[in-house]
Amino acid sequence: MPTTDQPTIAVLGATGHLGRLAVEHLLQRGVEPGRVVATGRAVERLEDLAGQGVRVLPVERDDAGAVRSALEGVDRVLLVSGTDPGRVEQHRIAIEAAADAGVELLGYTSGPHADTSSVLLMADHRETEELLEASAVPSVVLRNAWYVENYTAQVATYREHGMVGAAGEGRVSLALRREYAEAAAAALTGEGHAGKVYELGGPAVTMPEIAEAVSAVIGEQVAYTDVAVEALRGILADAGVPAPMDAVFADVDRGIAAGELLVPTEDLERLLGRPATPLRAAVEEALSAG
Ligand SMILES: NC(=O)c1ccc[n+]([C@@H]2O[C@H](COP(=O)([O-])OP(=O)(O)OC[C@H]3O[C@@H](n4cnc5c(N)ncnc54)[C@H](OP(=O)(O)O)[C@@H]3O)[C@@H](O)[C@H]2O)c1
Repeated sequence: MPTTDQPTIAVLGATGHLGRLAVEHLLQRGVEPGRVVATGRAVERLEDLAGQGVRVLPVERDDAGAVRSALEGVDRVLLVSGTDPGRVEQHRIAIEAAADAGVELLGYTSGPHADTSSVLLMADHRETEELLEASAVPSVVLRNAWYVENYTAQVATYREHGMVGAAGEGRVSLALRREYAEAAAAALTGEGHAGKVYELGGPAVTMPEIAEAVSAVIGEQVAYTDVAVEALRGILADAGVPAPMDAVFADVDRGIAAGELLVPTEDLERLLGRPATPLRAAVEEALSAG
């Protein structure tokens, strides 16, 4: 049982990569395990955290009743953006439940320049940010730029086919998931973040620079080949990415080429209290984590 008057903090999406890391960072920041509510579907992944006293709850985001009961008595919430096509509706359910629970701060993991971006993937984030603006819940928008892991997760493919993209010489701001998670934990445990929109990202790098960093770390040459956006969509479709996600993912590279996934580094640096990890070290860490 909690023994202090610390706020109780819920993480919606704690079973995922970022959410779990956010829970770990909340604990590292001294939040009592009994003051952390960790939710998701695959809660068996959180057994170790439950063993430490974290309140683990299975919550399906479409189930408004389950979301509401998870947020009862909660003071702050990290809403990790979802993955389902209907995620905006799920976010609406969570935001309304947070408002009804009288939550004092809700952090939402959005995307770079979500309010103005032409990148297709940002449309759901823009809509969710609009829901937040219209809601009575004080919020902090954590616009996470790209994960280093988006690229390191593809290393097996890179070894076989090289790295193929359509981003040209465009730069994308990268950081490790754990860094975005730590920033979220800092915002959720800190003061003065309500009403803020943070553009979070680390070093701004090009695709050839990522290929070079991966090559150096794996000790094998990975070449970057640039193709047209439509050609990239076709490659993704051939690799089994279903429509419309083939077009949505290819469109990310169009966005990178246009500089739409580039953010200044100051917000992340300020929340972390240090600069984000440089590219090569970040690639090394992500690959050694598996
Ligand atoms: N910035 C980037 O580069 C980037 C890259 C990829 C994704 N994203 C976004 O950032 C989010 C966090 O990234 P991540 O790597 O941590 O993703 P992830 O590992 O896929 O985590 C997604 C989380 O959302 C939960 N979730 C999804 N649909 C749900 C539903 N219907 N009901 C209950 N829980 C649901 C998942 O629960 P279960 O696992 O228990 O089902 C999981 O906890 C993603 O969800 C996505 O919106 C950003």
